[in-house]
Amino acid sequence: MALLSTLPSLACLLLLAMALRPSSGGGSHDYGEALSKSILFFEGQRSGQLPADQRLKWRGDSGLSDGAEAGFGFPMAFTATMLAWSVVEFGGIMPPEDLRHSLTALRWATDYLLKTIAHPTGCTSRIDSELGSILLQVGDPLKDHNCWERPEDMDTPRTVYSVTPDRPGSEVAGETAAALAAASMAFREADATYAERLLRGATTAFEFADSYKGAYSDDTGLKAGVCPFYCDFDGYQDELLWSAAWLRRASANVSFLSYIQNNGKTLGADDNINEFGWDNKHAGINVLISKEFLEGEVLWLQSYKQSADSFMCTLFTPGGLIYKPGGSNMQHVTSIAFLLLVYATTSPSPPAPSTAAASPSIPPPSAASPSNRCSSSDFFQRSWRWLLLPPSPQLPAEDPPPGSSLPAKADRPEQIGCKEGSPYFNSQGPNPNILVGAVVGGPGEDDAYGDDRPDFRKSEPTTYINAPLVGVLAYFAANPS
Ligand SMILES: *[C@@H]1O[C@H](CO)[C@@H](O)[C@H](O)[C@H]1NC(C)=O
Repeated sequence: MALLSTLPSLACLLLLAMALRPSSGGGSHDYGEALSKSILFFEGQRSGQLPADQRLKWRGDSGLSDGAEAGFGFPMAFTATMLAWSVVEFGGIMPPEDLRHSLTALRWATDYLLKTIAHPTGCTSRIDSELGSILLQVGDPLKDHNCWERPEDMDTPRTVYSVTPDRPGSEVAGETAAALAAASMAFREADATYAERLLRGATTAFEFADSYKGAYSDDTGLKAGVCPFYCDFDGYQDELLWSAAWLRRASANVSFLSYIQNNGKTLGADDNINEFGWDNKHAGINVLISKEFLEGEVLWLQSYKQSADSFMCTLFTPGGLIYKPGGSNMQHVTSIAFLLLVYATTSPSPPAPSTAAASPSIPPPSAASPSNRCSSSDFFQRSWRWLLLPPSPQLPAEDPPPGSSLPAKADRPEQIGCKEGSPYFNSQGPNPNILVGAVVGGPGEDDAYGDDRPDFRKSEPTTYINAPLVGVLAYFAANPS
């Protein structure tokens, strides 16, 4: 009984066992190929000078003057956290080439995030001195969204927004800390020096987030930069808890556990919020801290496991794809799928090694008889069928700048200006460049997908849809059913 009480609840385990079995009757899927493509996608999103081994050849250099294009720092940091978490959990079972490409994609993001925190108060440029500001964003969101332009042609204002002690943004600072801490775990094996640097950066960003508490959307000046696209709707409290949990895992420093113990209640830990995405981290916090509980038996953390159990068991509609109102739905499908998998594959003690590559064998979700409460769901079957079977959408719309729907620079070198891109946006034709590996926002509540570019909630791929998907696909590629 003692052991059982530490496991994710039995009812849920078996729901997970069923749910995590990929679709039956739809033929077998090549998860290995899907994994490679889900990682390749990130090469289409690169800004800056592209390396010689760039594989998506239709992309060119962009944003060279500022190193960022449409750099929405908050969701981008979440992308980095999830890509890192994918590697931390499942890097050890990825084919070596996929692991290498995942780390390259992650580093593209973390190199940028390290630059965003290289703004100390004093005259030294060391990132471990006290921070004076964090670069939040480069670009003008309204003007960017008003243009259908290739990243290589970007000529909208490169406005720079930063959070400072006077105009705090604990959500972006906290998420940056979480991303850097998670990435330090992902890189520990491959590049210990870089991992150390990431961990120092994470600590610095966390101290800034916690010392200067506030939400960036509450500042009039910053609000113009981030809203309406990436407003902080849910407050900054969850990012403080989330980043402390990541720092605890990455550093094994007990002071972060104390932080969680002393501040959890104030930061909403008991509110049982069943959400997980770039804005709201609560379900992720519960799963991450449950791992700490399951692996370490720190008893007061059990409430997080209870919240995680309740999240797992309330996810499923009686017979379908999970659907959450708002923006792109597939972001919920991939991020929740990731949480399910991490939760189902976490074994209670002995403590798991904290480096990615040191955990080559991951137990399959254990099978048991169906529970009445959750088993009727074919959430995964429907999600996977939709995700992996042809025909794939032909008309994805990307968040600005929208490279793949415009001709490649090599095919049409001359500038395509802000409004000159509109015919491509409005065209019914397929994208001239294939954004391999992109997962669009997905079908609506009625399961219908119209493949209509302007319907951005359905047609838009995003990096934070793919980042958790990398981990999920790595698991399925290594454990085909
Ligand atoms: C643990 O973290 C705290 C807060 O960042 C720091 O002051 C302390 O030196 C750290 N302890 C160790 C052993 O690294």
